[in-house]
Amino acid sequence: MSVCFLNGKYGPLADARISPLDRGFLFGDGAYEVIPVYSRRPFRLGQHLQRLANTLDAIRLPNPHTPSEWAAIIDEIVARNPWDDQSVYLQVSRGCGERRNHAFPVPTHPTVFLMSDELVTAPAVQLENGVSAVSAADFRWLRCDLKSTALLANCLLRQLAVDSGCAETVLFRDGFLTEGSASNIVIVKDGVMLAPPKSHLMLPGVTYDVVLELAACHGLPHEVREILEDEVRGAEEIWMTSSTKEVLAITTFDDRPVGAGRPGPVGRQMYAWYQQFKTTVMRGG
Ligand code: PDD
Repeated sequence: MSVCFLNGKYGPLADARISPLDRGFLFGDGAYEVIPVYSRRPFRLGQHLQRLANTLDAIRLPNPHTPSEWAAIIDEIVARNPWDDQSVYLQVSRGCGERRNHAFPVPTHPTVFLMSDELVTAPAVQLENGVSAVSAADFRWLRCDLKSTALLANCLLRQLAVDSGCAETVLFRDGFLTEGSASNIVIVKDGVMLAPPKSHLMLPGVTYDVVLELAACHGLPHEVREILEDEVRGAEEIWMTSSTKEVLAITTFDDRPVGAGRPGPVGRQMYAWYQQFKTTVMRGG
């Protein structure tokens, strides 16, 4: 039975209750994070908490906890759950008003909720063969940089992939790559790793940052710049990156093979660097 945290109390997830007036439920009015935990150590916690603070700030919701309070709650959730590798879900909503009203309730009492699950990264067969993806027009709003709980557009887009038996939907806006429905997208063209620049059109991924740092640190040629849809379609490699998928090759895109249709050498190298980097973190480095 997994243990969650709700407004100051730890308890079984199955027993946790919130009001139907909660604005997270009524309006998707909240911020969230998904934090990977390896060997019971949160990965890049500082960056996840900073992104949470940025989202809360942008949606004008006061941060209910200091970084050290968040760290203590996360440590406790991790300790109370059975798995060594976990994926901690953290959400802050704008709480309840007295009735449904778009305007913010005054005063605001945010709802703070955390739960955890076993972290299941890509299975061996996906690492070996890569996964398939489809494309779609990015019809989301213009604040995709915020990690908002209002994810209906992302859910609709992700379901397009599921409907086609694929793992991810790669999004394009006005002829340019933005990201995936629940991941960032990186490509390799002429041996150079290309990543789209951070903007209001994509989530600034923590894994995306790690991948760029690893490229810089190991001298892998890379560039951060706008990427044309045609460049994605002609790429030697396409990868998705996220806290739960880590670095995963997309080897079939819109029913066509990407490169040779197998995970490419640059992605395999990046995957290895990522795994190596994780172990230094697990040792407390
Ligand atoms: N999603 N872009 C989108 C739209 C995402 O939802 C995510 C992650 C990412 C990658 O961000 P990061 O590397 O920080 O995980 C990019 C999480 C895992 C989720 O919603 O479950």
